[in-house]
Amino acid sequence: MNVMPRISGLLGQTKTRHGTIGVLDIGTSKVVCMIAQGDGNAQPTIKGIGQHASAGIKRGEVVDISALSLTVGKAVEVAERMAGISIENVVVGLSGATQKSQIRTHQVDVASGEVLERDIRRLINLDFLEAEPQGRVILHRLPIEFSLDGITGIKNPQGMFGQTLGIKICSISASDTALRNIQMAVERNHLSIEHYVSNIYAAGLSALLEDERDLGATVIEIGGGVTSLAYFTDGELRFLDSIPLGGASITNDIARGLSIPVEEAERIKTLKGSVLAGPGDSDEMLTLPMLSQDSDHPLSIELGVLGDIIRARIEEILEMLLLRLEKAGYSSAAGQRVILVGGAAQLPGMREFVSTMIGRSVRLGRPAGVIGLADATAHSAFASPVGLIHYSYVRQPFELSLADAGTSRRSGRLSQIGSWFKYYIWDAGSR
Ligand SMILES: Nc1ncnc2c1ncn2[C@@H]1O[C@H](COP(=O)(O)OP(=O)(O)OP(=O)(O)O)[C@@H](O)[C@H]1O
Ligand SMILES: [Mg+2]
Repeated sequence: MNVMPRISGLLGQTKTRHGTIGVLDIGTSKVVCMIAQGDGNAQPTIKGIGQHASAGIKRGEVVDISALSLTVGKAVEVAERMAGISIENVVVGLSGATQKSQIRTHQVDVASGEVLERDIRRLINLDFLEAEPQGRVILHRLPIEFSLDGITGIKNPQGMFGQTLGIKICSISASDTALRNIQMAVERNHLSIEHYVSNIYAAGLSALLEDERDLGATVIEIGGGVTSLAYFTDGELRFLDSIPLGGASITNDIARGLSIPVEEAERIKTLKGSVLAGPGDSDEMLTLPMLSQDSDHPLSIELGVLGDIIRARIEEILEMLLLRLEKAGYSSAAGQRVILVGGAAQLPGMREFVSTMIGRSVRLGRPAGVIGLADATAHSAFASPVGLIHYSYVRQPFELSLADAGTSRRSGRLSQIGSWFKYYIWDAGSR
């Protein structure tokens, strides 16, 4: 089955990239480097994977550049050795950097009454001229649709007649400072950054089925330090948000609640943790190591007590994020499917619990659409890094770039026109 992401809407064919792709997912718990190769036809093939426990990152943000730089170096080295290829450029995925989405619209008057290429360029250019708030930079500009004299849903307005041409874009912004710190850590390893990508956007590209992205679905990634949500519909991202709480918060709750060391809490969580178990559900008792020689400290607890602690935190995080989605005006998402990804989504009972909690159909997402993903990495924690490969391989040309806006002098040759412009407007329009 071909599970390559396909750009929906007018585009039935995709432009894929040839050659080597290097991606780096900088997470709170793990740093993952993947090296893939694509020939432009079939799905990209994973050639090397390097993974290392994170250091210097807290809740998705850099707190120690040197520690992070070392970790990045180790993950890249392992991936390069496995692939037998060395990389110089990477696409970097971010879970932190206070990412926000915004729907922006722009309008221009159509000078001649017929929409020409220059009208579309002027329109796109308006988005690049818009001043960003202090300290914010745009990661992605994802075109949603054009409008002409109030008629929406137009994918290619070129050659149509009208007076006022509009465009709707989903833009994703991030903190400039956060990006600069990541850049320092990556560049110390003699790697240059090709592009920064939102991890939750990437996760949606690898873990959502094409129908889900088209009909409407919410992907929620419960990572180590950050939980993020993204809503897709009509094939594109519409909204994303995140909270700097994740699996590590659950671990800390367990450590605090049971008065045990954090390392022990992490061990208990991954070995015995379950979202479904409640008090009285099981006779199983957990024996706890003591934090101190406190004589009245209980030495064993019911498994259900652990479940209570885990549930409380997950409920809090998901309620906050889903409320933000609703407040952003996406109440239609309430009837649509939720796909859970991220390391902490692997907690037994998570799917059932979230489904009951929010009254929606929920499934556990896995990364798809690449060849050569080993079993050890074919689970929900790898949705983002695999999504970064999809982004690099097929998606990147479909976001607006400066070339689309026509800031460089046009020579009249199609090759000089920005990728999105060429493929979205010209190729799609000519079919
Ligand atoms: N089998 C498992 N059961 C329960 N929890 C797990 C399991 N495996 C990993 N986790 C938890 O998942 C979290 C890490 O998830 P993930 O690898 O997605 O995070 P990350 O990408 O490094 O961080 P982030 O994206 O939040 O910055 C940790 O809190 C870890 O305890
Ligand atoms: Mg992550």
